Amino acid sequence: MKPLLIRGGHIIDPSQGIDEVGSLLITDGKISWLGRGKITPPQPDYDVLPAQGLIVCPGFIDLHCHLRQPGFEEKETIASGSQAAARGGFTTICCMPNTNPPLDNQATVEYVIAEATKAGVVRVLPIGCISKGRKGKKLAPMRELALAGVVGYSDDGDPVLNSRLMRQALDFSRTLGLPIIDHCEDTTLVADGLMNNGIVSARLGRRGIPAAAEWLMVMRDLALARLTGGWLHIAHVSTEGSVDFIRHSKEVGIRVTAEVTPHHLTLTEEEVLDYDTNAKVNPPLRTEKDVQALIQGLQDNVIDIIATDHAPHTAAEKRGDFALAPSGISGLETTLGSLMSLMHAGKLSLPTLISKLTREPARIIGGRYGKIGTLAVAAPADITLFDPTKDWLVDTNAFASRGKNTPLAGSKLKGKVMATISGGKLVYQDDSIKVGRKKETSKRS
Ligand code: DOR
Repeated sequence: MKPLLIRGGHIIDPSQGIDEVGSLLITDGKISWLGRGKITPPQPDYDVLPAQGLIVCPGFIDLHCHLRQPGFEEKETIASGSQAAARGGFTTICCMPNTNPPLDNQATVEYVIAEATKAGVVRVLPIGCISKGRKGKKLAPMRELALAGVVGYSDDGDPVLNSRLMRQALDFSRTLGLPIIDHCEDTTLVADGLMNNGIVSARLGRRGIPAAAEWLMVMRDLALARLTGGWLHIAHVSTEGSVDFIRHSKEVGIRVTAEVTPHHLTLTEEEVLDYDTNAKVNPPLRTEKDVQALIQGLQDNVIDIIATDHAPHTAAEKRGDFALAPSGISGLETTLGSLMSLMHAGKLSLPTLISKLTREPARIIGGRYGKIGTLAVAAPADITLFDPTKDWLVDTNAFASRGKNTPLAGSKLKGKVMATISGGKLVYQDDSIKVGRKKETSKRS
């Protein structure tokens, strides 16, 4: 493969404190040279990807998505989910184990890794189950799963209701050095709730899911993390109360990290006023006050990362009655566009948003998979190029994901991924991006 020069983009790499115009050379799948300003690389022969006006940053990392394979291939496959990731600017994605069979043993984890290698688009890192069969009764073989290559453990989709089991899992997390990714939901408080418990549920006369159903479980698990010294990672934080408890826990030194989704940062319960099943998600979309607290939490590093919780479902499933439709939003391909609305509104800066999608999730995953989330020389060339001001229409027919379930369908977003490079390979490019041969003989500067 010929070296590729990404020329003249606005490079933002929080891992190295870079925020300026520059160029970047990729050789043999790795970043081989990075030059600030308008200089040409030492290499004489290379292809050029012009990046003027584009942001060039490390490939995004998603710690939380659902790829559905094995078992639910009608919703998504590892290959289609990988393509969706590439279109969304993601070069590393971590997939949840609520498949059929679930990822609770070495063989299924190895199967996912093999399928991802076969797809050959982005890096796919599996998450193993906390409990055997996701049944919440007995621990999954956590050491075996660690050896098979999981990046953490989760029964996501369901909470671990049994406190003793959660305590044991957290004990293991300490010795194995991997996080327990916690789906916090007190199902006794959720009962038959369908949406956030608040003004919208009251207006529609439907049962609501109280914020306490989340933060009560957050409290319990923070207490168990304190007791055990284990590593708790709270998935899809959606309430102000959870942010408050996590903030306090970090202050007193409990080992906790946390994530928030693009949809909980940008949408509210109002989305379900017309019973749009594509806005039905778990945890539910909450209030404007919660949204503000989540944004503040990101700013204060109470919430460490942004993760998609990409949850594809079929159109047939989502077409049904609101009460029966499965929860979830297909999010990989709209993440950047959604998040840019926060930047355009002056609520979060570009370097902060990029850091929460690159450097911070890389810190959680650790160094086991090489240097990711950085444009450092010698790191794998995982790179995302995006135009922060380009308008585009969300056309779900153009999604690579099999899941077309998004409340953003048909809406206009400002900010679009223009190219994604994974391990030096161009895995997605917008039609307007043209890679050319070097035209000039290099001028040294
Ligand atoms: O909305 C959701 N969908 N939340 C979850 O926790 C699980 C996910 C799914 O698997 O569909």
